[in-house]
Amino acid sequence: MPVNVLFAAKPSNWVAQEEPLKDAFKTAGLNVNLAAFQDGTMAPEDVDYMIWSPASAVQDFTPYTRCKAVLSLWAGVERVIGNKTLTQPLCRMVDRGLEEGMVEWVCGHVMRHHLGMDAQILGQNGEWKPHLPPLARNRKVTVLGLGALGSACARMLNAFGFDVAGWSRRQKDLDGITCFSGPDGLQKVLKRSEIVVLLLPNTPETENTLNAQTLSLMPKGAFIINPGRGPLIDDDALLDALNTGQIAHATLDVFRIEPLPGTHPYWTHPNVTVTPHMAADTRLDSSSQVIAENIRRGENGEDFLHLADRTTGY
Ligand SMILES: NC(=O)c1ccc[n+]([C@@H]2O[C@H](COP(=O)([O-])OP(=O)(O)OC[C@H]3O[C@@H](n4cnc5c(N)ncnc54)[C@H](OP(=O)(O)O)[C@@H]3O)[C@@H](O)[C@H]2O)c1
Repeated sequence: MPVNVLFAAKPSNWVAQEEPLKDAFKTAGLNVNLAAFQDGTMAPEDVDYMIWSPASAVQDFTPYTRCKAVLSLWAGVERVIGNKTLTQPLCRMVDRGLEEGMVEWVCGHVMRHHLGMDAQILGQNGEWKPHLPPLARNRKVTVLGLGALGSACARMLNAFGFDVAGWSRRQKDLDGITCFSGPDGLQKVLKRSEIVVLLLPNTPETENTLNAQTLSLMPKGAFIINPGRGPLIDDDALLDALNTGQIAHATLDVFRIEPLPGTHPYWTHPNVTVTPHMAADTRLDSSSQVIAENIRRGENGEDFLHLADRTTGY
């Protein structure tokens, strides 16, 4: 009997993802009947696994009575984890492509601020202005969130030589990284943070992690890089801190409202860089392999990978 898998993610992604999924199922030795939600060929009560993303037409999971798991294509699951109709296990996306993309984006933006690249790239005015940035080992960088993506970024920044600290809910022990945890840990770690990267999930506990009080702890002229989620930062407090020079620059990839409205002050602020939620995207080949592996596990009675925890919200 084939396993019935419903692709109920963003409909426009189906064309690109169908073949990589079929290849991954074949490689994993799975006999799968794969259908797209928009084709209407698979009845809800026949679905064994659902591939899902926030743009899905499926927001009521009640009819999917035999569905063994909902497999998210997104790493962040805040838009579905609180859905009361979702009683099935929810697996979030943790994949190599997402991780590599995030590491590249974060390291690129850290390097931009560390080396003061804007002065040369934007300031070609005929004036010879020598500038000697410190070496990475003399630059304190902090990653808030040491999960799949945060720990990968922290490790790569450490490999560049940066003096890296990290903060998480539970205490971590990562080679070469000074680890902090809990509310006290946040206060301590921010005091030493010249560049802060936010890679926390969006939960009630993480909302406004950076606010007027926590921003004031950072050394004057610090940099903020947020590829995590918009609500992690109190926007008004950040704008105030940018206007006083407490924060020198913020590079923001994620926002409370996306796309960021054209009238938002971030667009015109000279010390803000807006990027369009592009830090890391789920890659077709590697994400299809993760989905296939989870279906293989489900069919063999093994534990699913990357299960989201409804009690913590991530
Ligand atoms: N911009 C983009 O393109 C893009 C792409 C992918 C993902 N993202 C964002 O990146 C986030 C992180 O992804 P991930 O895969 O690394 O998530 P993850 O593996 O779940 O890691 C989350 C980290 O945050 C920590 N954390 C959670 N709540 C906390 C709290 N209250 N206080 C302190 N630390 C807390 C966790 O601590 P513990 O280790 O103790 O659990 C963990 O270290 C996603 O949730 C998503 O919002 C953005």
